Amino acid sequence: MDVDTAIRKRRTIGVFSDREVPPQEIAELIEAARWAPNHKHTEPWRFHVVAGEARAQLAAAIVDGGGEFSKDPRGKLLRSPQFIAVTQQAVLDDPVRDQEDYAAVCCAVQNMMLAATARGLATKWSTGALAENGAAKRWLGIGEQDRIVAYLYVGYPPEEMREMPAERRPADVVWRS
Ligand SMILES: Cc1cc2nc3c(=O)[nH]c(=O)nc-3n(C[C@H](O)[C@H](O)[C@H](O)COP(=O)(O)O)c2cc1C
Repeated sequence: MDVDTAIRKRRTIGVFSDREVPPQEIAELIEAARWAPNHKHTEPWRFHVVAGEARAQLAAAIVDGGGEFSKDPRGKLLRSPQFIAVTQQAVLDDPVRDQEDYAAVCCAVQNMMLAATARGLATKWSTGALAENGAAKRWLGIGEQDRIVAYLYVGYPPEEMREMPAERRPADVVWRS
């Protein structure tokens, strides 16, 4: 699939079949991620592939850690047979680099979603309370100040969701010459 088609076909899908994605395909998504642009070649990303029982273990750690959740963390973390938590190490003494690194990790996540789309896989990028959760960060082995940039849920979409129409406003563009 060419990149323009993948960009247009990619849709957020939060419903997945039970079928696990082969590790080789997950590795290919991560391979696409690491080619994202990153200023000063900091390669600021880390990928935590969480599958099978590990999903429930993370959910239990979050619940045990306390806090209020609008939805049960288990319902979210078990929505796909595997997800990839994409994290960024905080750069506390250099806010500009920290922001650049965050932008680079976001580019990496988009690379993964486009690579997934090209392979017929569905993805959902999720943040919210679970991304800010201290117990989740501890479980993943990252620092309190580090960021969970994305829980990237990935899997096979249900048949009826393979083609998801979407609308976008025309771009707000200013041309100057
Ligand atoms: C940084 C970021 C965070 C997101 N967090 C969530 C989230 O927490 N929950 C959610 O349902 N969708 C989340 N999304 C997905 C957006 O809601 C989705 O991209 C948007 O509705 C547009 O739909 P599309 O991805 O199909 O184009 C997030 C997307 C981005 C880029």
